[in-house]
Amino acid sequence: MSYPYQIGSLSEYHEAYRKSIEDPEAFWAGVASNFHWRKKWDRVLSWNFKEPNVEWFAGGKLNITENCLDRHLEKLGDKPAIIWEPNNPEERTRVVTYERLHKRVCQFAQVLRNNGVKKGDRVCIYMGMVPELAYAVLGCARIGAVHSVIFGGFSAQSIADRLEDAKAEFIVTCDGAYRGGKDIPLKSIIDDALIGNKLVKKVIVYTRTRIPVSMIKGRDVWWEDEMLKVTDTLPVEGFGEAEVMDAEDPLFILYTSGSTGKPKGVVHSSGGYMIWTNYTFVNAFQYKPGQVHFCTADIGWITGHSYILYGPLSAGATSIMFEGIPTWPDAGRFWDVIDKYKVNIFYTAPTAIRSLMSFGLDPLKGKDLSSLQVLGTVGEPINEEAWHWYDEHIGKKNCPVVDTWWQTETGGLMITNLAGITPAKPSWATLPMPGVQPVLVDDKGEEVTEKDADGFYKGNLCIKAPWPGIIRTTYGDHERCRTNYFATYDNLYFTGDGALKDDNGFFRITGRVDDVLNVSGHRIGTAEVENAINMHASVIESAVVGFPHDIKGQGIYAYVIVSGLRGDEAGTRQDIIQTVSRIIGPIAKPDKIQFVTGLPKTRSGKIMRRILRKIAEGETANLGDTSTLLDPAVVDELKNGKL
Ligand code: PRX
Repeated sequence: MSYPYQIGSLSEYHEAYRKSIEDPEAFWAGVASNFHWRKKWDRVLSWNFKEPNVEWFAGGKLNITENCLDRHLEKLGDKPAIIWEPNNPEERTRVVTYERLHKRVCQFAQVLRNNGVKKGDRVCIYMGMVPELAYAVLGCARIGAVHSVIFGGFSAQSIADRLEDAKAEFIVTCDGAYRGGKDIPLKSIIDDALIGNKLVKKVIVYTRTRIPVSMIKGRDVWWEDEMLKVTDTLPVEGFGEAEVMDAEDPLFILYTSGSTGKPKGVVHSSGGYMIWTNYTFVNAFQYKPGQVHFCTADIGWITGHSYILYGPLSAGATSIMFEGIPTWPDAGRFWDVIDKYKVNIFYTAPTAIRSLMSFGLDPLKGKDLSSLQVLGTVGEPINEEAWHWYDEHIGKKNCPVVDTWWQTETGGLMITNLAGITPAKPSWATLPMPGVQPVLVDDKGEEVTEKDADGFYKGNLCIKAPWPGIIRTTYGDHERCRTNYFATYDNLYFTGDGALKDDNGFFRITGRVDDVLNVSGHRIGTAEVENAINMHASVIESAVVGFPHDIKGQGIYAYVIVSGLRGDEAGTRQDIIQTVSRIIGPIAKPDKIQFVTGLPKTRSGKIMRRILRKIAEGETANLGDTSTLLDPAVVDELKNGKL
């Protein structure tokens, strides 16, 4: 494949950027013309941020899987599309060529059809990182079913909420999953999630761990049995045929946390999302045909959707899919994988880098990392120390490091340097991708034009105009999409992040300015954690804030008012942590719980989180103005950390 839209120099970047802003329609039509459309679009872009309503390539018809698979078959059929590295390094690797992937996706698409799945139906996917997860995701896309992947670390209750919100009638899962030294009983968690659920008609179960599972008659079927019914030697009518989708038809829903309420289902489109993931993949990582790309994310998150599956596959790349975790069986696992498959592009999260840094350099001994050409980070701000360690010890100062800022809602990378093309600056995401118009505004929505004392512009990060991968709606509740992203400031998409800008126009993302935490690169709403804590019988009220954590970036700090605590602090603490784990999942467990008798509230009853944050950070001297508090004495108790 060739990518005529791949930017090859700094001046080309500036040129592409200028064109993308001056005439976005011509610019994106040029990019989109390199893809396979069943019918060309009528109009490249129409939009308003009021409703909001954004349409890219309206009238265009396509199927994303034809772009990810069929169009590569002739030239790349025998090349690996996915290389699967199992959790246990002793287990056999699986190499899935483009031809094989195409075949399996077509087969599984037929399995879905046989089980009654139709275009537009929502299919929830709750699986470990096995190639069959890719077949399931792409199989859905093949027939126009809307996939909603749920990360394996979420609890039955979280799954139940998502199933209900998405009104999903179908589930694809595994009996269990291996993650490091742990076995996760996925099917049994699904069974719990389905108690009381009346909508789900079919559960397709892939055998991974062979743990005993119970199957419900008429509802649960085995993946293997279903696949046997659709071998390619027995073609049925329409076998393998891709559903023709409108560019604006939804491709998937992915749930993510916000500052209020339950997680919302971010909806992405078929056409714009495809163009955006491909364009950003090819440009930021400077992907060259034949390279091996290793993104360490889980497909349960947006990073896995966009940069293990859709971006790399639409570009004809080889994408590594890793089932395990970076520290099992030892902290050299990533480096083994890079060495084993001669990885060229490596993309991971700062939290993983910090965690691996803490093991020192021993795990790197004897590992040949010379195949690496590009390194990337995503998910949270990267501190300079981690950036330099990554650059020096992994990239051997020979690989550009791209710091990619983006979000579930943006579909793909938004602000990032382009590897080796635009300059890097440690801990700065630097420049916007073509098509992205970032602006920093103050709390009133006015553009920040004055520098702060450090010489930077500082404000809330917004985007002025749509890019092809922008969120289209929040599933089942468009108003929620409007209020969350488009109502804070007139005519702007609000990211929820704060940022700095320097004189070169480089951006540095400083973190969320709303009540969303970023724990090990995972997004968690404080309100969600509070709701879960409050479910515990002894809890009267709670308030959750983030605090700086050396490895996780942010940790979860909970202030909790309990009734009837009779000396058994440790037991209650454990019990509350277990409650959160049961309700949301292990990823949301508080790191610290402080029992208190009151919370700092204003006279109108609002919790002053600013004070709670400072105390959680260990800052007790400069708490700012506390005079508006209903009961200023509460602050002393909080500072002393006692009941
Ligand atoms: O706060 C920003 C942070 O992660 C948030 C988005 O989280 P999520 O939707 O889960 O997507 C994560 C993967 C794209 C953002 O609002 N974030 C993401 N990338 C960076 C970042 N913060 C700083 N630097 C980054 N490179």
